[in-house]
Amino acid sequence: MNNVFIDVTVLEPRMKHPTIFDAFDNVAEGYSVVIHNDHDPKPLYYQLLGERGNCFSWTYLSNGPEIWEVEIKKNEKNVETIGEIASKDMRKAALLKKLGIDFCCGGKRSLEEACLEKGLDVHRVKDELQNAERVTPAGPQMDFNSWTLSFLADYIINVHHTYVKENTRLLADLSEKVAGHHGAGNPMLITLRDKTHELLRELTTHLKKEEQILFPYIKQLETPGFRKDQQQGFATVKDPIWMMESDHDLAGNLSKEIRQLTNDYTRPANSCNSVGLLFHKLEEFENDLIQHIHLENNILFPKAIELENKL
Ligand SMILES: [Fe+2]
Ligand SMILES: [Fe+2]
Repeated sequence: MNNVFIDVTVLEPRMKHPTIFDAFDNVAEGYSVVIHNDHDPKPLYYQLLGERGNCFSWTYLSNGPEIWEVEIKKNEKNVETIGEIASKDMRKAALLKKLGIDFCCGGKRSLEEACLEKGLDVHRVKDELQNAERVTPAGPQMDFNSWTLSFLADYIINVHHTYVKENTRLLADLSEKVAGHHGAGNPMLITLRDKTHELLRELTTHLKKEEQILFPYIKQLETPGFRKDQQQGFATVKDPIWMMESDHDLAGNLSKEIRQLTNDYTRPANSCNSVGLLFHKLEEFENDLIQHIHLENNILFPKAIELENKL
């Protein structure tokens, strides 16, 4: 079956998911089921992921507030997502980042889709990815895929959460100072302060949710003798993961806005050292955030869903 369009709003509630699953099962590889809905169908994403596995891409064609349309495209066999490519080889992750391909929040797409979106020649990018395998890594390579989920969760907290916490005060104060001194002559710096503060606020709340709710639960999943009925507050790990991925999308979008505002962190001519330091720290912060979200979205979360399904 080729592409299918389903208006979910006209279906009886009990028929919605079976109809979509049936259409997905019958659509040919490389083709899509497009669903039209009056609310965000994200829970369906996790249900499909849990029951059919990581064999599709999920792209919002329309993202509310009244109408949601999602293209669910069935992957052709053996087609890796860009999140999977990045998670298997840090040199390839570095290349994707250099090319401006978002593999953390947008990691569930195929390379073809990501290249199309960026206007890049997919054959050339494939060649470059192959060449990246021949590059000798600059430092020790960490094989995150081989780690236990508990160890990876601890690593994320100790490295990336700690980095965010250690830099929050500095970035909040520095962006405030720069906006106060130079904002009258350059209103972009006022917007930059507001976006920076918003990003820091969002992340502060987000880290607490991961450290207090989701990560402890993921660690419990690896505890011998763990039973699913011991969980509290949510029916499945997919629920908090969905919330965390929504937070990641929000943080990722704010980070992209900051990059655009600063013209890729290009320090304005004749700007003072404080502006230079702010731009430098914001770029460093974005780099850390990309790796942080990549480890969660592309490794920790899919593996936690897989593990819970097995229990
Ligand atoms: Fe995190
Ligand atoms: Fe996170």
